[in-house]
Amino acid sequence: MTPQLWQAVDEYFTGALGADDEALAAAQRDAAAAGLPAISVSAAQGKLLNLLVRVAGARTILEVGTLGGYSTIWMARALPAGGRLVTLEVDPTHAKVAQANIERAGVADKVEIRVGRAADSLPVLHSEGWGPVDLAFIDADKPSNAVYLDWALKLSHPGTVIVVDNVARGGRVVEAPEDPAAQGVRKLVDAIHGDPRLDATAIQTVGAKGYDGFLMAVVKDVEG
Ligand code: SAH
Ligand code: DHB
Ligand code: MG
Repeated sequence: MTPQLWQAVDEYFTGALGADDEALAAAQRDAAAAGLPAISVSAAQGKLLNLLVRVAGARTILEVGTLGGYSTIWMARALPAGGRLVTLEVDPTHAKVAQANIERAGVADKVEIRVGRAADSLPVLHSEGWGPVDLAFIDADKPSNAVYLDWALKLSHPGTVIVVDNVARGGRVVEAPEDPAAQGVRKLVDAIHGDPRLDATAIQTVGAKGYDGFLMAVVKDVEG
């Protein structure tokens, strides 16, 4: 098994089952042209997020980590009329590229990008009374995963779905526990393990983005 084979199998499935359309492909092209790192979710993963939004019947979504808006567009497209997605991004250049991509994809009426450190934006959203959210996608600086989980919980209701990207990182979560990103994942897992409000699992993935994984949690009862 090789990364080339994972990529080929991803291409087979996305080709056969449908993935990027012109607006999503253009979003990736413009992000690359603007020098953004190629660290978005894959097409197959983007579609999984889209399906999860629909399975959850989500009308309100929180995203932490916008980059060029690729995952944002996949999720926003699954929202019903009147649905809202707020996405948090620290880098103004990323946010500018994302805003243009989101407008071209036709979902700007549903999406708000907040520029700033997510750890600063989240308490502001909370104090504004925003939420509760039906789904949260956490995909920013990995050492802050547990902080973002805390805020996602404050913005949640029983049934809220919380998805966290990049939890396996090529196996570094167990092979390099001193790595700050691996520590961020392990702190997140410890927090979930000790929290009676959450049921969770983590699924390892291979594909166009290499070997990584998603963690998914469902909120049982926010009163604990
Ligand atoms: N969700 C995107 C990928 C996000 S990459 C997709 O799949 O398409 C991670 C993003 O988090 C980067 O754009 C990075 O600038 C942003 N980020 C890093 N630290 C952050 C912080 N403290 N607050 C908010 N965003 C942050
Ligand atoms: C990185 C971040 C991501 O969200 C991702 O999917 C892959 C890599 C990173 O910071 O290296
Ligand atoms: Mg990611």
